[in-house]
Amino acid sequence: MKTIYHRLNEKQIDPKVMQEAGEVIRRGGLVAFPTETVYGLGGDAMNPQASSRIYAAKGRPSDNPLIVHIADLQDLEQIAASVPQDAYALAERFWPGPLTMILAKKDSVPRETTGGLSTVAIRMPDHPIALELIRAAKTGIAAPSANLSGRPSPTSAEHVREDLDGRIDMILDGGPSKIGLESTIVDLSTNLPMILRPGYISIDAIREVIGRAEYDPAIQSGVKSEEAPKAPGMKYKHYAPKGELTVVSGKQEEVTSYIREQIQKQSGRMRTGVIATQETCGMYEADLVLNVGSGEDEEEIARHLYSVLRAFDEAQIDRIYSEAFHGERIGQAIMNRLIKAAGHHIIEVS
Ligand code: TXA
Ligand code: MG
Repeated sequence: MKTIYHRLNEKQIDPKVMQEAGEVIRRGGLVAFPTETVYGLGGDAMNPQASSRIYAAKGRPSDNPLIVHIADLQDLEQIAASVPQDAYALAERFWPGPLTMILAKKDSVPRETTGGLSTVAIRMPDHPIALELIRAAKTGIAAPSANLSGRPSPTSAEHVREDLDGRIDMILDGGPSKIGLESTIVDLSTNLPMILRPGYISIDAIREVIGRAEYDPAIQSGVKSEEAPKAPGMKYKHYAPKGELTVVSGKQEEVTSYIREQIQKQSGRMRTGVIATQETCGMYEADLVLNVGSGEDEEEIARHLYSVLRAFDEAQIDRIYSEAFHGERIGQAIMNRLIKAAGHHIIEVS
């Protein structure tokens, strides 16, 4: 299949392109599009064949449900069987934005879209191209991240091309993603609101609106739980670079000297890499040292993390060491992704 590619200016979206893209969705095809978190691979959420195509294009296991993207609050009631007060309160505060809510699904939502579950994930993305696409398609758009299963989520159209060129109908390029990590997922289908995936919107921000929320115990950073995570996708080893990744945590000086030592031991035998901050990257000598952003700026680290992980694959690095990043607000989300990329391989040095 030849993948059609369109570059769009989000301030002046070409209506002809949006109409063409909406038609692709309406006839069951797949369109990759930008959101504020990461790029999504969209298909008609109400068309079981479109959802099946999404799984096939990504090589994704079909028990891993998709998020339905909507553009207007009224659409929530077309997809969820009942909408609790908490959901309206969170929507009012955070939508459009990087928050996904899990609610009981309506019968009309096909099981292919929800991986056979009786609940459905819903989000209103904060990106003009995404919102225009949903409106042009006149349906909810089911969209996982637009990467091949097991690769880091794409934060640029170039990443989407690397993974899915020739496998999907269309790519809409809206430039680099502003947030760079997938949305926070909160499950409102049970009594106690539960965070199934940490993201840009913190648990504290959610508690401020609805009073209470807890983390799914299976996703606490650093802990490898015996319990299966409640979001099926969180159980897979995601975002794994081809090289072996170790996260090193502790006081900065000790982290630096540990990583330097390991690199020295392995140099000549293996291609080595380091993920460090702007402040520390000058301290390492490895085959590839990448600056993921300032240690003072967790948003910058979130934004660059996935493109940094992809770069290590390209450079064919065998052993990667990453400093741990402990941001106040989205640190939990950053560490959750990094530790998964490392297959839970984290070392405490102090
Ligand atoms: O930021 C995002 O959320 C991006 C953009 C494209 O919107 N999308 C995204 O989708 O990250 P995906 O498919 O890569 O991740 C969806 C996650 C998976 O872990 C999946 O298991 C979980 O949401 N999920 C979906 N429906 C669910 C449900 N009904 N119950 C529990 N978890 C669910
Ligand atoms: Mg994904």
